[in-house]
Amino acid sequence: MDKYLVFGNPIEQSKSPIIHQQFASTCDQRIDYQKQLSEPDTFVADVNTFIAHGGKGANVTAPFKEQAMQMCDQLSVDAQAAGAVNTLSFTDGGILGDNTDGRGLVDDLLAHNVTLTGARILLMGAGGASRGVISPLLAQNPDSLAIVNRTLSKAQLLVDHFQHDKLTAIDYSQTQSKRFDVIINATSASLSATLPDLASSAVVDAVCYDMVYGAELTAFLKWCQQQGARQIIDGLGMLVGQAAQSFAIWHGVKPDVAPVLALLRQQFKEG
Ligand code: ATR
Repeated sequence: MDKYLVFGNPIEQSKSPIIHQQFASTCDQRIDYQKQLSEPDTFVADVNTFIAHGGKGANVTAPFKEQAMQMCDQLSVDAQAAGAVNTLSFTDGGILGDNTDGRGLVDDLLAHNVTLTGARILLMGAGGASRGVISPLLAQNPDSLAIVNRTLSKAQLLVDHFQHDKLTAIDYSQTQSKRFDVIINATSASLSATLPDLASSAVVDAVCYDMVYGAELTAFLKWCQQQGARQIIDGLGMLVGQAAQSFAIWHGVKPDVAPVLALLRQQFKEG
């Protein structure tokens, strides 16, 4: 049976094994997919050991996505743009690296009937999570993509890096005077249940997306709902969407995400 792994730290919470096993069963495939805790100074050796034991591919989550990129012999366009890799394929030709996070996000937004082409998009945060989705969002040809960050200089660095006429950097005070069609929270604020300093007027009638997910709505999505957002969406669909893209890279078939999403939602309900 082909062997796959997800590396991360922490890793206990990872839903990747269950997602990939479900995809495999709906596609009539049998795979062995485990999770493995790693450490920054053992990550490279851990990947090489897995390859030596016949591993076919691996997903990589925080904090190893940049280290994973360094190990690759070949990188996809998205991985190069993201500066990070979440999908490794171990082939006779070496290690191939891709980044499916941005495609997972775009797929999930489109699955929720959100129009991205021609939309005014606000991307909150300027860390790795934000950088990974910029290129796939720009590929949808929005009207504009503004990056807002507490530390404006970090947003400006991303704008300088991507060099695209639709891309701008703003600070939170500037969100007072702007309206957006789609707002994506890629900050880590939801992990500590804190709220970024977004103007409430910016949220009115916007589709609001939080990359974080959980059994309860995040503080950000609750707040958006109270301010009059048109639609709120959590990041569970992005998680399943990026996994579906990884599965397609490894197995050549794109699985249906809906049954797996329903299963995960049900598991949240049951606690
Ligand atoms: P990740 O890899 O998940 O993107 P990161 O690189 O540590 O993590 O980036 C975290 C992002 O969340 C940053 O953009 C950070 O803003 P700063 O660059 O100004 O630090 C943002 N962030 C974290 N907590 C926040 C908060 N309470 N309000 C607004 N932004 C926040």
